[in-house]
Amino acid sequence: MSELEKIAKQILAKGKGILAADESTGTMTKRLASVNVDSTSENRLKFRETLFSAASMKNNIGGVILYDETIKQKTSSGKSVPELIKSFNSIPGIKVDAGAKKLSGSPEEKITEGLDGLRERLTEYYKLGARFTKWRAVYNISDKYPSELALKSNAHALARYAALVQEAKMVPIVEPEVLMDGEHDIMKCYEVTSKVLEECYSELKLHKVDLKGTILKPNMILPGNKSKNKSNTKEIATMTLKCLKENVPNEVPGIAFLSGGQSEIEATQNLNEINKINDTNFLMSFSYGRALQQSALKNWAKDINDINNTQKIFNHRSKMNGLSTSAKWNIDLEKQLTT
Ligand code: 13P
Repeated sequence: MSELEKIAKQILAKGKGILAADESTGTMTKRLASVNVDSTSENRLKFRETLFSAASMKNNIGGVILYDETIKQKTSSGKSVPELIKSFNSIPGIKVDAGAKKLSGSPEEKITEGLDGLRERLTEYYKLGARFTKWRAVYNISDKYPSELALKSNAHALARYAALVQEAKMVPIVEPEVLMDGEHDIMKCYEVTSKVLEECYSELKLHKVDLKGTILKPNMILPGNKSKNKSNTKEIATMTLKCLKENVPNEVPGIAFLSGGQSEIEATQNLNEINKINDTNFLMSFSYGRALQQSALKNWAKDINDINNTQKIFNHRSKMNGLSTSAKWNIDLEKQLTT
């Protein structure tokens, strides 16, 4: 097994998933404003350090995606943030894209930027302790979109990114996110996500990316958030698994879903259901941002020095998601907040 495959499998080992704590300063400022906390670099670190030193880091969080500011910060004990993460046997990762910008030629759509100077930045991040990376492409669903231009240009950028990351001896997380905004039904999400994945894997192969040393971070197959036709968790799981089986090559070791605006419980329940019927070799896990942090952030905002209770909430959420990676979660377990 290659070193990269080992890292990918360690991140998504049994009961483990990824904490996506790589909100840019702009996004983090919005999250903190929603709970009336000032977005200073000290406060951003304080919240993140509270999570990164929680007990569940050891059993349920195989990797943490950091933002440029955070990977360079020192914790209250003097350790660097990557050192703190490594002390729990979890692996530090880094978001390396520079965000989704207007796509020239189809300005209502987005293209993810950040390839210029990426090789040099990757060398620096490796030295700081990162062993995996993330790049997110976003696609809107409407009558006209995604356009062929958006499908092709984003897949091309993702593949160039992934090839450079493997050259730098890190595991690229390939994240093509089909947004849940809109009135479309689940079938439309399935069709669009299929096209997106097909295009991405065609480009990844063209760029000679070793798929065994990658992790896919996709959206689940869901109806739009304004859709009149709701879907139950069984339908979501069936359609999601079908889409992945049809479009993701077998060599990919692991799939870590984004939560994309689902509630905490929905994200856990849907992953659990997917794992109930998972008859593939893919490790199916989570790489959640909001669905791991929302309740913890709300509690922390009440008293930013109350580390214990915030960690308790984060530990519970991590544990619930850990259980869902082997289909062992159920709603009764949600009521137990013990750790
Ligand atoms: P959410 O789980 O909040 O969608 O965030 C995951 C992520 O990393 C988005 O890029």
